[in-house]
Amino acid sequence: MNNKVEWAVIPAAGRGTRFLPITKGTSKEMLNIVDRPTIDYIVEECLNAGIKNIVFIVSEYKDDIKKYYSEDKKFYDEMIRAKKDDFAKIIDSIPKKANFYYCIQKEMLGLGHAVLCAKDVVKDNNFVVCCGDDIVDFDKKSAVSELIDAFSKNGGKTIVGGQEVDLNNISKYGAMDIKEKIDDVTYSLKGIIEKPKKEEAPSNFASLGKWVFNSHIFEELEHTKPGKGGEIQLTDAIASIIEKEGAYFVNFHPTRYDCGDKLGYLEAVVHFALKREEFRKDFIDFLEKEVKKYK
Ligand code: UTP
Repeated sequence: MNNKVEWAVIPAAGRGTRFLPITKGTSKEMLNIVDRPTIDYIVEECLNAGIKNIVFIVSEYKDDIKKYYSEDKKFYDEMIRAKKDDFAKIIDSIPKKANFYYCIQKEMLGLGHAVLCAKDVVKDNNFVVCCGDDIVDFDKKSAVSELIDAFSKNGGKTIVGGQEVDLNNISKYGAMDIKEKIDDVTYSLKGIIEKPKKEEAPSNFASLGKWVFNSHIFEELEHTKPGKGGEIQLTDAIASIIEKEGAYFVNFHPTRYDCGDKLGYLEAVVHFALKREEFRKDFIDFLEKEVKKYK
């Protein structure tokens, strides 16, 4: 099997109800972290891992993601006329980062259904799936790179990316039933259970929004019946793949920020702001003063 991974699918069609009212007019994936939308941190992570083609799954109400990654000649020309070449360069570079594709998910039938929407574009290529609201900080190696390495090392079989979570929180995630430890970060899987009760969870290894698949997952998704919450669950299709050809869990290193959640998003904003040297000192001074007011 060819183990090359040059495609990424980014599901971003969800309503983002936890972020209302802002998500009435703006996608949560477009919420700003310093000066870039959340989803662009994921796009950069994919590019850094050698991905060349990015498929966004969007709803028919969301055109802001497409607008961001499309050419804007008017804005570009305006910047050139104003002799603001650096800004013109930024505007010009965004659509050139990768080959971008858009698939519309007409009904919110779940993450598995969202991934299936990419079938006709991705065809028989291997691909990464990254949820549009889960970001990592990757000064060294990104989570997607770690997953792609494991995919190559393990014969192009499904890789589920995640980390250990507090067992009290496992009911929010897909939980791994581990077969055996393969190396420092990789485990073969016996099964996977979507959002189990704490008492029923086979482990505290949680699936956290990143996977690598070969194209067999599409066939599996086509036959997956609605599961928990009446949605077509990606986890259910993976459970079936585990039985048929096996799959692995990779405990990725980078710190993850859940930007689908308000607190997680705020943590990401502060973290990525503090990384920016140009205002780090002033921002720390400000934070110290603010924190004193509320402690
Ligand atoms: P979430 O369940 O976190 O997104 O899905 P949501 O439904 O927008 O969140 P809330 O609960 O209403 O606030 C994780 C990712 O999968 C995408 C979402 O856009 C998000 O990036 N997703 C989810 C889809 O693309 N389609 C779906 O049917 C469900």
